[in-house]
Amino acid sequence: MKARKPLVVGNWKMNGDLIANERLFTALRSFIDRELLARVDVAVCPPFPYLGQAAAWMGDAGIAWGAQDVAAHENGAFTGEVSAAMVSDLGCRWAIVGHSERRTLFGEADETVVVKAQRALEHDVGVIVCVGETLEEREQDRAEEVLARQVGALASLAGVAVERFVLAYEPVWAIGTGRTATPEQAQSMHEFIRGRLAAAGFADSARVRLLYGGSVKPANAASLFGMADIDGGLIGGAALVADEFGAICRSA
Ligand code: G3P
Repeated sequence: MKARKPLVVGNWKMNGDLIANERLFTALRSFIDRELLARVDVAVCPPFPYLGQAAAWMGDAGIAWGAQDVAAHENGAFTGEVSAAMVSDLGCRWAIVGHSERRTLFGEADETVVVKAQRALEHDVGVIVCVGETLEEREQDRAEEVLARQVGALASLAGVAVERFVLAYEPVWAIGTGRTATPEQAQSMHEFIRGRLAAAGFADSARVRLLYGGSVKPANAASLFGMADIDGGLIGGAALVADEFGAICRSA
């Protein structure tokens, strides 16, 4: 057994509505019991408008909830943004920052990702920072260079308590494509990332939880989570199906 407690996080992305969510929350409560939660930390990240609903349904179930992003700014005149203070107010234990969809579709640079993480941490919201290379970068043999840059940019966060800092390796070519990194491929990148965290000044890098994300399903979860440096997963599509998400949590 690893010294790091596994963590499985569902990233619902821009999916759901009040009725479908209620069904999902109800099913999650029955699939993920206290016995499992003693062994594995579990969190769900619905879209912002449903965080209050998550708090109402998950509050007494031992399943945490989190936001998919936070603004880089504090409260003020930023129409359409949602601040770290607000997600903290809604009881979020986690905020995902730097997801590849934010980086590629909304142009978020490494510098913005760090500022967002800082904002979340200032409001006592833990961060799940996403990194990962595109298919083009992998094919050009630049995956490690990209990861070194993305992880190196986090140096200013090196002093953060390890309980509040999680890094998710999500190769962009594996997200929503059904094409998963092999456990060996993922392990070798996780090992590399842990080394880069140490180089960036994270004295406790051996205690930082590293999640894998990208087409994790019940069928491949156990072999991925069984690797030495993979401490759980960041789950997209399968997080919307309660029994699949439950099975993935049990594999951790
Ligand atoms: O953040 C989770 C994610 O990007 C992976 O999505 O659908 O490939 O599990 P999916």
